[in-house]
Amino acid sequence: MKRKNEIVQLNIEAIGFQGISIARKEGLVYFVKGAVPGDKVNAQVRRKKKNHIECELAELLEPSPLRVKPQCGYFGICGGCSWQHLDYNEQLRWKKQHVLDAFQRIGKIEVAQFEDTLPSPEIFNYRNKMEFSFGNSRWLTSDEINSSNDISNKDFALGLHIPGRFDKVLDVERCHIQNEYGNDILKIIKSKAIDCNVTAYDSRANEGFLRNLIIRSTVASKEIMVILITNSVHNDEEQAYIDWYDNEFAKNDNKISVVGRAVNATRSPVATEKPIITKGNDYITENILGIDFKISPYSFFQTNSKQLNNFIAEIINRADLKPTDTVWDLYCGTGSISLPASKKCKEIIGIEMFEGSVEDARNNANSNGIVNANFICSDLHEKRIPELLSVLPKPDVIIIDPPRAGMHANLLNHLLEIGANRIVYVSCNPTTQARDCALLSEIYNVVSVKPVDMFPHTFHVEAIAVLEIRNPIHN
Ligand SMILES: C[S@@+](CC[C@H](N)C(=O)[O-])C[C@H]1O[C@@H](n2cnc3c(N)ncnc32)[C@H](O)[C@@H]1O
Repeated sequence: MKRKNEIVQLNIEAIGFQGISIARKEGLVYFVKGAVPGDKVNAQVRRKKKNHIECELAELLEPSPLRVKPQCGYFGICGGCSWQHLDYNEQLRWKKQHVLDAFQRIGKIEVAQFEDTLPSPEIFNYRNKMEFSFGNSRWLTSDEINSSNDISNKDFALGLHIPGRFDKVLDVERCHIQNEYGNDILKIIKSKAIDCNVTAYDSRANEGFLRNLIIRSTVASKEIMVILITNSVHNDEEQAYIDWYDNEFAKNDNKISVVGRAVNATRSPVATEKPIITKGNDYITENILGIDFKISPYSFFQTNSKQLNNFIAEIINRADLKPTDTVWDLYCGTGSISLPASKKCKEIIGIEMFEGSVEDARNNANSNGIVNANFICSDLHEKRIPELLSVLPKPDVIIIDPPRAGMHANLLNHLLEIGANRIVYVSCNPTTQARDCALLSEIYNVVSVKPVDMFPHTFHVEAIAVLEIRNPIHN
């Protein structure tokens, strides 16, 4: 057995479900963070788990030909894009492999057609939403620590939390996955804060003024929304900063369409107070497949707008909707699938438990003149859900896009009783998707699975599984 801190020479063979590289040697399985398949490494043992040994990459002895130079200077520190050093085609190949493994090993299901991962049209500058944090305890990089220069502004950072360290913030000058203009905004907001001598939030003491900066953007209308979250104003410097933000910053920048701010004086990292809008409307608008979606400061919207068009088009095409079809969209969120799908079917009923999303979905239906989409606010995992579903018009097609935990067994059993002709099961978690599809395969065949890359440089993957009933119950 290996001892803590022992160095082991390994050849990296694969990448596991959580995006961590794997090597096998002398009957043991090693997880090596930061390595890629094809690397020969010296790895340092950190923790021994039941079925594997967790290691750090201590020395890269021979780099894999699949490695590429990460664009981001914070790669390996920020934790956001842990695959930036892996060739993009390989990222796509491993995403497919993870979905395939889940269906074969967990679901143990035959899939007639397992397709390649749909690549994202852009692999940088693709995120339409970033939420940055201010912190009074800046994370110092090894370069800064090893440099002989004095370290400035140690008690002020605007950037991203270091993984596992809620109190430490990595100061970010440029984030390569956000809209390029967002990087200019980061700079302006930070340099003025330093000039005004205002403090960044101290999460341990629940003190300090500046807390979060949300930057959202849209592709179709090219709008930018900036929301600043602060603690309550306590002194003249803080008031001067707010005056600058509400007036000069908001009014002088023509590229920004919405400027707002909210106060969060609680210990909770999540702001709930509705922002005061000082410029523009309280939303920006994105267009997906001809439907306008209003996005308000805190509302949910998929973060890769360009790929979202392709993703939703794939879902709707695979649903193979007919003008006579009744469709259910379970876990419908703000209706980003239901509303474009409504154009292809007789009626669509969306069910979602979060009231704010149902409201957004209804408003988006109204403002787009859609009358055949109805939305119900309900918890799909409640016991009485079969009663609620049994009074709805019977579906020909069911679209399902559950959270990572997948579906509840009661709901799955009820779907087996309903027996819709076709189910399109969309998921961001192949493990629970495979488990649920295995249960549904009692009466369905899984005819195709298509992985989709919504999040380049991360191990996250979406997949669309199409299930067709073997013996139609009704027509
Ligand atoms: C992956 S998202 C689906 C997003 C949706 N397709 C959209 O376009 O906005 C999962 C959704 O399921 C909702 N949800 C989670 N648990 C639920 C439950 N028990 N019943 C109903 N909806 C639930 C979440 O609020 C979230 O909107």
